[in-house]
Amino acid sequence: MQNSYLVRTTNFTKYFTLIILLFSSSMLACKSSLEEDLAPVAAVKTTPAAVVNGNSSSDSAGTSGEDSSTGADETSSSDETTTPTSTETQSNPATPTSPTSPATPASPATPASPAAPEKSNVIANRTLKNSFNFPIGAAVDMDRLNGKTYNNVVSREFSSVTAESSMKFGAVHPSKDVFNFKKADAIVAFAKKNNMRVHGHTLIWPKDSLAPSWLLNFKGDSTAWDNLLKTHIQTVVKHFKGQVASWDVVNEAYADNGTLKDNIWLRNIGPDYISKAFLYAHQADPNALLFLNDYGQEFGGKKMTAILNLVANLRKCNIRIDGLGFQMHTVLRLDIKGLKTNVDRTVAAGLLIHFSELDVSVRYQKPENFKLDDALATAQAAKFKEIVKVYLSIPKALQFGITTWGVSDADSFMNSNVVNKDHDYPLLFDKNYSAKPAYKSFIEAGLGK
Ligand code: XIL
Repeated sequence: MQNSYLVRTTNFTKYFTLIILLFSSSMLACKSSLEEDLAPVAAVKTTPAAVVNGNSSSDSAGTSGEDSSTGADETSSSDETTTPTSTETQSNPATPTSPTSPATPASPATPASPAAPEKSNVIANRTLKNSFNFPIGAAVDMDRLNGKTYNNVVSREFSSVTAESSMKFGAVHPSKDVFNFKKADAIVAFAKKNNMRVHGHTLIWPKDSLAPSWLLNFKGDSTAWDNLLKTHIQTVVKHFKGQVASWDVVNEAYADNGTLKDNIWLRNIGPDYISKAFLYAHQADPNALLFLNDYGQEFGGKKMTAILNLVANLRKCNIRIDGLGFQMHTVLRLDIKGLKTNVDRTVAAGLLIHFSELDVSVRYQKPENFKLDDALATAQAAKFKEIVKVYLSIPKALQFGITTWGVSDADSFMNSNVVNKDHDYPLLFDKNYSAKPAYKSFIEAGLGK
C-alpha cells in the first residue's frame, strides 16, 4: 500500500514539476522575445509630413514582377499536396503564350455595353451579396473601379472589398519616409459609398522578391528592423483605423514543410517577426480583426500544423489573432474532403475563416488558347458550389466571408502580364462581365440548392 502510495506521490511530483517547467518555459519564451512590446504602447513615430497625396507610381512597386511567384503558382510546387500538379495550378502568367495571340493592353477590359448578367445564369432578385448572411467580397483595383462596368458589378454584387495590391508594402510605403495612401483611400471611399466592408491586405508579405528595393537595401541591426516593422504596420493600420475592419497581418509566411520561409524579416528580426507584426497591428487598432493569410491549408500537412501551432503560441503570449485566410486559389481537381478536414481543424481552434482569394482555374492539361466550353463551365460551377457548401458548414460566428480574387476573367491576376488574356477562366464573371454558370451555382449554394 505504502509503496504504491509513494510511487503515486513521486509520479505526481514529477508530473507537477514537468508542468511547471513547461509552463514557465513558455512564459519565458513570450517574455524574452516580446518583453518590451508587451509593455504599454510606445508612441509610434509617424511621418505625417511625408505622407504623399500626389501622384505616384508606387502601386507598381507592390505589383510588378510578382506574377510569376503568386500563391497559386506556389501551390503547384507543394510537396505535400495530393491535388494540383504544376500544370494544373499553372497560373504562371509569365509563361509565354501563343505567339499568334494579339497583344492585349494591360488596362482592364471595359466592355462598351452595360454590365448585365447573362440571363440564363441569373436568379431573379438575387445577387451574390443578398444570397448569404456573411460578406461576399472581391479583390478590387482602383483603376478598374474608374470603369463603369466593373464598378457597377462590384457595387451590385459584393458586400466586401480587398485591395488587390494597393495596400501592399511597396504600394503604400514606396520609400523609407514616404507613405502614399492615394489609391487605397480611393478604394476605401468607394467601399464606404457602397456600404461595403474593407478587408486590409496585407501588412507584411514576407517575400524578398516583392519588397521595394529601399527595403531590401535597408541596413540596420535587429532593433532598427524591428522599428521599421513597427512603423510600417502602425502607420498603415492607424491610417485606416475605423475604416478597415480587418487585416491580413502576414501573408504566405510558411513553406509547405511547415518551416518559415526565408526573407528579410526572418533574417533580421528572427521568427518573432510574426508575433511582433500581430502585436503592432493590434496596438494600432485594437478593434481590427487580425488574420494570418496563406495558401494550401486545404491540403493540411505540415504547413497547416505549423499555422495552428503559431496560433496556439500567439494565444499563449496573449497576442491577438482572430482568424485564418485560406487563399483558395484552386483547381477543378481540388480534394473537397481535404478542404473540409482543414476547415474543421480551424473551426476547432475557434478561428474565424476567410476564403480570402477564391478562384477556380480550369486550365489543367489544356492547350494555351483553350476556350471555356459548356462542360468545363459546368464543372467549374459544380466546384464553386462544393467549396461554398464547405464554407456554409462553418459555424456562423466563425464565418468571416468569402472573397473572390478579382471580378471577371478579364481582370483575374491569372491572366495578367500575358498576351493572351483568355488563357484561364477562374472567376464568376466572364471577360464581358456577364455571369457565368459558376455565378449561378455560387448563389444556389447560398440558397441551399
Ligand atoms: C497578386 C495580384 O493579384 C497581382 O495583381 C499582383 O501583381 C501580385 O499579387 N496571393 C496573394 C495576393 O496573397 O496578394 C496575390 O495578388 C495573389 C496571390
